[in-house]
Amino acid sequence: ALVVRHRMRSSGKWGRAVAIVKEFEEQCGTPIGKLRQVADAMNVEMHEGLASEGGSKLKMLITYVDNLPSGDEKGVFYALDLGGTNFRTLRVHLGGKEKGVVNLESEKVSIPPHLMTGSSHELFDFVAAKLAKFVSSEPEEFHLPPGRQRELGFTFSFPVRQTSIASGNLIKWTKSFNIEDMVGEDVVGELTKSFDKIGLDMRVAALVNDTVGTVARARFSNQDVVAGVIVGTGTNAAYVESAHAIPKWHGLRPKSRETVINMEWGDFHSSHLPLTEYDQALDAESLNPGEQIFEKIISGMYLGDIVRRVLLKMAEEADFFGDTVPPKLRIPFILRTYHIVVMHHDTSSDLKVVGNKLKDILEINSTSLKMRKIVVQLCDIVATRGARLSAAGIFGILKKIGRDTIKAGEKQKSVVALDGGLFEGYKKFRSSLESTLKELLGDEAAEMIGIEQSNDGSGIGAALLAASHSQYLGVPES
Ligand code: GLC
Repeated sequence: ALVVRHRMRSSGKWGRAVAIVKEFEEQCGTPIGKLRQVADAMNVEMHEGLASEGGSKLKMLITYVDNLPSGDEKGVFYALDLGGTNFRTLRVHLGGKEKGVVNLESEKVSIPPHLMTGSSHELFDFVAAKLAKFVSSEPEEFHLPPGRQRELGFTFSFPVRQTSIASGNLIKWTKSFNIEDMVGEDVVGELTKSFDKIGLDMRVAALVNDTVGTVARARFSNQDVVAGVIVGTGTNAAYVESAHAIPKWHGLRPKSRETVINMEWGDFHSSHLPLTEYDQALDAESLNPGEQIFEKIISGMYLGDIVRRVLLKMAEEADFFGDTVPPKLRIPFILRTYHIVVMHHDTSSDLKVVGNKLKDILEINSTSLKMRKIVVQLCDIVATRGARLSAAGIFGILKKIGRDTIKAGEKQKSVVALDGGLFEGYKKFRSSLESTLKELLGDEAAEMIGIEQSNDGSGIGAALLAASHSQYLGVPES
């Protein structure tokens, strides 16, 4: 390693590598003034997306969730959570205010990659079969009273134009999915077809986005919740909006004074976003070029690949890893965000973990401490940018609903529920998001506005919404 370092320095290569990192860092910069501009732009787009269909890149989708859980929900409900590389089946026994979630069982199944880009019936047949198997193992304590049909909350974490609480058409795929024949189709209709094929008797009572489930889940235990945000494989937010602030909701308005809006903020775009050449290249080579730009610079599906792209450039232009470019470094998505998390959190003085990761994943056998420090710095740059931009988005929502400042004498608390792998499992990301939001709010407002982790919104939240939209509402349990 010493020899390598010496040669790099003498040929000015090390200087070139440092310059690449420095330039990247500058382009990723998110000073507070810029974050305020992002929040304001978000606010403007929110208004436009609510004014008319297609009025903004922000779709601001109407969810038909007009009544959020009160905490009184009771009974046994199933949930299906589809939206990442895994899907989950759950059964939840809800016990109302006193008992909360009485009992819960869940199973996680990883989705074979070819099903994410195949045909819709292949994917849904697979999902239905796993769900049927899960149902067949139902223990007695989850049995429904005789004559009752099982009901399902279906969390489908993609942009859907809903036509009712339990139906809606897929607008487009995001993240790693791309099943063409599904676009424009009713996702509940497709799922139900697969149920019918295998004789699974279950009714979809609610079709929900994971962000909407997150709001519902958090409301069940805390009535101050105003919004739900996911920072995971993808990123998105949903929040509670007043009916009168949704001009495009005409005709349907207003069964209720407020409703939940699924923003699909992953597709947010603004000239204020700090974008680099690496983001542009990633976007151009993605499944959905030109789309989901906010998501591509924040969420877990992409952070690892951004770091890989910078390292590749350093290898190519500054011999960062020696004379040859490590071949593995050319493989898209080989560096995953969970690798970034582990390297970023390496506390050993010689950054041993970073060294091992580079060896295991990229087959780079020898690195100096100085090189490993740069790798950590790159992780820090992308995570900080993502975390701070998410905070700016949250601040934009709070502004939109007038909860960003505290009026004199006001005691109203506001809570934003968060979920997703980056929030849950990436400490440095989470603490940067939290401190940035405080910075944006200022001390006084920060006292009244909080962030909390919503535990399993996409599972329990969907079951809760199935409960509040059950066909047996008001019918006694037995
Ligand atoms: C993507 C999806 C969105 C989802 C988010 C988080 O942005 O389009 O619907 O909420 O990922 O899973």
